[in-house]
Amino acid sequence: MKIRYDEALPITARHDDIAAAMRDHQVIVVAGETGSGKTTQLPKIAYELGQRSIAHTQPRRIAARAVAKRIAEECDVELGAEVGYAVRFDDKTSAGTAIRLVTDGLLLAEVHSDRSLKRYDTIIIDEAHERSLSIDFLLGYLKQLLPRRPDLKVVITSATIDVDRFAAMFNAPVIEVSGRTYPVEVRYRPLAETGADDQLDAIAAAISELPRDGDILVFMSGEREIRDAADYLLGKKYPRTEILPLFGRLAAADQQKIFSSHPGRRIVLATNVAETSLTVPGIRHVIDPGFARISRFSQRLKVQRLPIEPISQASAAQRSGRCGRVADGICIRLYSEEDFDGRPEFTDPEIQRTNLASVLLQMASLDLGAIKDFPFLDPPDSRAVTDGLNLLYELGAMHAERLTKVGRKMSTLPTDPRLGRMLLAADKLGCLADVLVIVSAMSIQDPRERPLEHQQAADEKHKRFVEPDSDFLSWLTLWKYIREQRDNLSSSAFRRMCRDEYLHYLRIREWQDVHSQLRRTAKDLGMKAGSPNADPDLVHQALLSGLLSHVGLREPDGREFLGARQAKFMIFPGSGLAKKPPRMAMVGELVETSRLWGRTAAKIQPEWVEEAGEHLVNRSYSEPHWSTKRGSVMAREKVLLYGIPIIVDRLVQYGRVD
Ligand code: CDP
Ligand code: MG
Repeated sequence: MKIRYDEALPITARHDDIAAAMRDHQVIVVAGETGSGKTTQLPKIAYELGQRSIAHTQPRRIAARAVAKRIAEECDVELGAEVGYAVRFDDKTSAGTAIRLVTDGLLLAEVHSDRSLKRYDTIIIDEAHERSLSIDFLLGYLKQLLPRRPDLKVVITSATIDVDRFAAMFNAPVIEVSGRTYPVEVRYRPLAETGADDQLDAIAAAISELPRDGDILVFMSGEREIRDAADYLLGKKYPRTEILPLFGRLAAADQQKIFSSHPGRRIVLATNVAETSLTVPGIRHVIDPGFARISRFSQRLKVQRLPIEPISQASAAQRSGRCGRVADGICIRLYSEEDFDGRPEFTDPEIQRTNLASVLLQMASLDLGAIKDFPFLDPPDSRAVTDGLNLLYELGAMHAERLTKVGRKMSTLPTDPRLGRMLLAADKLGCLADVLVIVSAMSIQDPRERPLEHQQAADEKHKRFVEPDSDFLSWLTLWKYIREQRDNLSSSAFRRMCRDEYLHYLRIREWQDVHSQLRRTAKDLGMKAGSPNADPDLVHQALLSGLLSHVGLREPDGREFLGARQAKFMIFPGSGLAKKPPRMAMVGELVETSRLWGRTAAKIQPEWVEEAGEHLVNRSYSEPHWSTKRGSVMAREKVLLYGIPIIVDRLVQYGRVD
C-alpha cells in the first residue's frame, strides 16, 4: 500500500500530532468539520503506525462503501484487498484486508461471536456525534473492553459537537483538525414570505436566486422526495445543469457519480447522508428546507416510524457548512430565523428517543449485560428501564431475566416490540398477511384526515370503511379500497381521489412503504405471509398478544373502561366503537390528553385474553363445594389480568386446581 497524504487536507497539518497521540494513548478523539479528512486519512495514519487490522465504522452502508472505495484508490490497491468493506449482504474483504469499513451495526453484531473483538488491533468509531443506538452501545462496550484489551487502539471521530463528552468518557486527548473555510452567507426564505406554493416551488425559487455558476446541494428528507424533486426540477430545463440524486438505496455506480468531475452546473439532491458522512465535492451553495427523517427507533430498525421532523440547529449548521469549502458560499434556509432560533440545539441521542423495551431487547440479544451496569454516555432513566423490562415480560420476550425464544426472534424484527410480538403470533396463527397491513398502519399516522371545517364531510367519506367491532379491521377495509383504486387509476387521478376523500396521500404512500419493507423482512426471516382475509378472530388474537396491557373492561352501564393497573380509559371519539362500546376491548394505543383515551379499538373475548395472557393472569378460587351431580368438588374461579376481572364465577373442578 502506498501511503500518501494530500497537503491540501486540513488533517495533513496535524498528521504528526495525531500519530504521536495514537502511539501514546489507547483512545484518542479527533474532531473537525466535515471534509477535513478524518474519515479517509485516519485509517492510513493507523496503518502507517503498523496497525494491520483496523475496523472503521460508518453509520450508513452507502458511506462504508464509498469510503472504502476512496481509500483503496488513494492507496492504489484494489478494493477488497488491503482495503475493503463489509455491510449486511455484501462483503468485500479478504484475508489480507487491513482496513475494513463496516457499518457500526455490523461491528456490534460481531461482538456476538468475538467478545473481545480479538480480530482487530484498531477500532475507529467514525461520526460518533450521530449518537445512534449502535454507536452508544459500541462506545459503552469498548469502555468495558479496553482494560481487558490494553493493546487495542480506539479512535473516535466527531463533528465539532459533543467532543468533550467523548473525551471525558475515555479520558482521551482531543485533536482538532479544522480547515480553512470561506464565509457562508445564510439567507432565510420561509415559504409564507416568498409566496411559494409548496416546498418544490420554494426550492426552484431558491435555485433562481442563487448565482448561475456553482454546484448546489439540496437536502431532502427521503428517497421519494428526491425523486419527486428531480422530476420537478428536470421539468424546469435549466441550461447546462445536471440534476443528481443521492440516497442510500441508489445503485453504487449512481452514488459514485457525485465524485466525478463534470462540465456545467450540478444540483445534487441528497438525504441526510450528505450532512456529515459523505462530502460532496465542489459545493458552492446549499438549500436547506430544514427537515429530515428522524429515526424513532434503533439504527437497525429502518422500517420503524421515520417521521419527517424539523432538524436541530446543529444539523442546520452542518448543512450550511457543506458550502464554503472551496469559495464563498450561500446557504438558503426555507424557513424563518425565528423558526431556527426556536429549534433544539442538538438532536437527542437515539437512546433517548427510543422505546426502551427495544433497547433492552437488543442488549439482551447482544449479551451486553444488565443495563444498570452498562457504561452509557447517557444512561436511560431507571423508571423507564423498569417499564421496558415489564413490557418485555408481558410480551413473553423475557423470563427470569433471560431472553426467551420469542424474545430472540423479536430482537431480529425491525419493529417496536409490541408490533413484533403481533407479527410472531400472526405467523403462528396463519394470519400474517392481514397483520402485516395492520402493523404497518400502526407505525404511521392515520391517513384519514378530519379537517376541522370539513369533519362531517370527511366522516361521510370514511363511513364505508368502518367495521363496527374493530378499528383494526377498518384498516384492512381501507387498505383493500386503496389497493383497488391504485390499480385502476392513473397516479394523478389517485392523488385527486385521495384529496376528495380526505385521505392523506403521503401517509398512504408511507403506509405502503412500511408494509413492503416489513413484508420483505418477514420473508427474509422465514415467516410466511400467506393469503389475506384470514379469520378475524385469529387476527385479533394475534394483535392481542402484543396488547395485553391495553385491555379494558367496560362498566356495565358506563362508557369508561377499567384498564391495566387500575387505569381508566374511554374509547377515542374517532373510533368506530365509540358510540356502542363493547364490554371488553383492546386498544392499539393509550394516549393521555385531557384524559386517558384508547385509540384504535376492537371487541375481544375473555378467553382470548386468558390464553394470550397465560403467563400474566392471576387465578383465585372461592366457594369450594361438593357437587353430587358432577361427583366432585367444584369451586368458582376468578381470572384477573393486571387487576382486570377477565373471567368471574366460572365453575371449575376444584380437584384439578393446583
Ligand atoms: O471525514 P471528513 O468529513 O473529515 O473528511 P473525508 O470524508 O475524509 O473527506 C476528505 C476529502 O476527500 C473531502 O474533500 C472529500 O470531498 C474527498 N472525498 C472524495 O473526493 N471522495 C470520496 N469518496 C470521499 C472523500
Ligand atoms: Mg467523515
